[in-house]
Amino acid sequence: MNESNLRSQPVLEVKGLWKEYSAGEETVEVLRGIDLNITRGEICCIFGPSGSGKSTLLNQLAGLEKPTRGEVCIGGVPISRLDETELTNFRQRRMGFVFQSYNLLPNLTATENVALPLMFRGVPKAQRERTARELLERVGLGHRLNHFPSQMSGGQQQRVGIARAFIARPDLIFADEPTGNLDSKATLEVMNMICTFARDFHQTVILVSHDPEMASYAHRVVTLLDGQVVHDRRPRRNISPFSEYSRPITLPHISGHQEEFGMWRTQA
Ligand SMILES: Nc1ncnc2c1ncn2[C@@H]1O[C@H](COP(=O)(O)OP(=O)(O)OP(=O)(O)O)[C@@H](O)[C@H]1O
Ligand SMILES: [Mg+2]
Repeated sequence: MNESNLRSQPVLEVKGLWKEYSAGEETVEVLRGIDLNITRGEICCIFGPSGSGKSTLLNQLAGLEKPTRGEVCIGGVPISRLDETELTNFRQRRMGFVFQSYNLLPNLTATENVALPLMFRGVPKAQRERTARELLERVGLGHRLNHFPSQMSGGQQQRVGIARAFIARPDLIFADEPTGNLDSKATLEVMNMICTFARDFHQTVILVSHDPEMASYAHRVVTLLDGQVVHDRRPRRNISPFSEYSRPITLPHISGHQEEFGMWRTQA
């Protein structure tokens, strides 16, 4: 298969996705028949009002919850058929997460937090910390390498969170309201960073938000209402990513990683 075929292949395929919860006597139908294909390199915003089912959808896409019916395939793998151990391994290899509340480990420094996904991938300590430092410098935190999360602002913590999500080159990055706790300046920085990394490394981002401003960063906006897709559109993007995040970065070789796109330079 040539590179352009690989690029246009869906990285994520969702078929007839349905999710119900029982609440006492009642059954709540939260997702009602979602069909969605997302291609490699796409920044897709799942958009909709509070309660429309955005976070529930993201949880099914990332395999954090099992759907009631339907299937989610990532790179052709039906994730709902994996057991918990397989799913954990799969998630570590293929997915990165950016959380609204940052979710950094409080007892680890910025460098150690960012390096963590490379530990799960078997990269030696010196090498993973070197890469983490390089990535932190790139996101403007070269002066905060040894700070703990409690010693950083919200915007700084989220930049650490983004570096951590991208460092192991996962195919898919999931971000649920990543700027929900940030002011407008930090929001701009964080979104530019996510978009620039995704573009440079040809990674796919699934972004959840109820904010039209956030949706404007996406290549594609999928609008949910009452658990169904009511719009699926590709607006013109109104940002030009900051060039300072676009410097090339040297990453360690990760065994078993597919290098077909060659977007990250690897060390010999
Ligand atoms: N575990 C659960 N049990 C019962 N109902 C649930 C459960 N989780 C979510 N729901 C219901 O599903 C609906 C969608 O919730 P979800 O968290 O996906 O919404 P959302 O679009 O992410 O909203 P927000 O923008 O406020 O984060 C809500 O009505 C919620 O009450
Ligand atoms: Mg939500």
